[in-house]
Amino acid sequence: MTQHLTIRRPDDFHLHLRDGAMLQGVLPETARHFARAIIMPNLVPPVVTSKDAAAYRDRILAALPDGARFEPLMTLYLTEGTDPADVAAAHASGLVKAVKLYPAGATTNSSSGVRDFSKVRAVLEKMAEIGLPLCVHGEVVDPSVDIFDREAVFIDRVLDPIRRATPGLRVVMEHITTEEGVAYARSGGGDLGATITTHHLIINRNHILAGGIRPHYYCLPVAKREKHRLALRAAATGGETRFFLGTDSAPHVDALKEHACGCAGCFTATNTMALLAHVFEEEGALDRMEAYTSLNGAAFYRLPPNDGTITLTKAGPAEWPAKILTGAGPVTVFDPGFPVHWHVET
Ligand code: NCD
Ligand code: ZN
Repeated sequence: MTQHLTIRRPDDFHLHLRDGAMLQGVLPETARHFARAIIMPNLVPPVVTSKDAAAYRDRILAALPDGARFEPLMTLYLTEGTDPADVAAAHASGLVKAVKLYPAGATTNSSSGVRDFSKVRAVLEKMAEIGLPLCVHGEVVDPSVDIFDREAVFIDRVLDPIRRATPGLRVVMEHITTEEGVAYARSGGGDLGATITTHHLIINRNHILAGGIRPHYYCLPVAKREKHRLALRAAATGGETRFFLGTDSAPHVDALKEHACGCAGCFTATNTMALLAHVFEEEGALDRMEAYTSLNGAAFYRLPPNDGTITLTKAGPAEWPAKILTGAGPVTVFDPGFPVHWHVET
């Protein structure tokens, strides 16, 4: 029997589109299925001011394929020099939907991030006042902390103190990867949300390291033990409104992934919706997929759900290109390592 699942058009609440030829190459992969996405600001140089965000938004809109209906939701990259008044104006005009906190050095293009949290106090207080969410890359950068523990340590050392010091600050824990992340997200009220990527529902750290090193499974935060993957699955598919989709689809050309010092990032824009249908079906939760991909995140960001629907159909084996050929070079599409039978009708 053919199965169909019709849901509101989804949103991606954490997406890397890059710029130039890469933007041109990867944007159609997201715009095909998603109505909106929170656009990460970690360009080189980063998107810091409202002026930067407006210019980047224009470049994204110019790169859209003809006829595509896609709205980029812009973010600002928080630096120690960020001006609270500029942030407030960018929010008031509707241009900017969140501010992104990268601890300096935590991940790709994060060298302009925050070292001294006392320097961003005024911005965080302004954000709490106006209700503008802070998207947090939750990993400490202390080299003495094991890379697999960096998320849990960040929660205790950085995130919880920031939230206690800034009552009312709305926070999205981005791409959580641990049971500690799930538990902390659950401990918050309506001012705390968390995104989970598609790939962290599918891989654990063995996929990266067992039987040969597999650079296309390497991302940050790095995939953890199996018990953490299971905690993430329960969170994503369990129907709690605080959890929602942020793919963290993060394209890098193959030459920089398959490298002695390979870049972090999994590219999942192309097949995310099919993979999620597979995961939600495995968990007996297909009826909860729409909340996760299309309702919970919009509600957190105080946006209306999208008009229109997409339909997923379970049929013969699903296929997608192994690589997207961009003007910047080939980008490998995330391989779940198992057959998928869900298709998005287009
Ligand atoms: C992201 C990137 O490539 O920009 N990489 C990743 O592994 N997720 C940065 C990030 O979100 O940490
Ligand atoms: Zn990211």
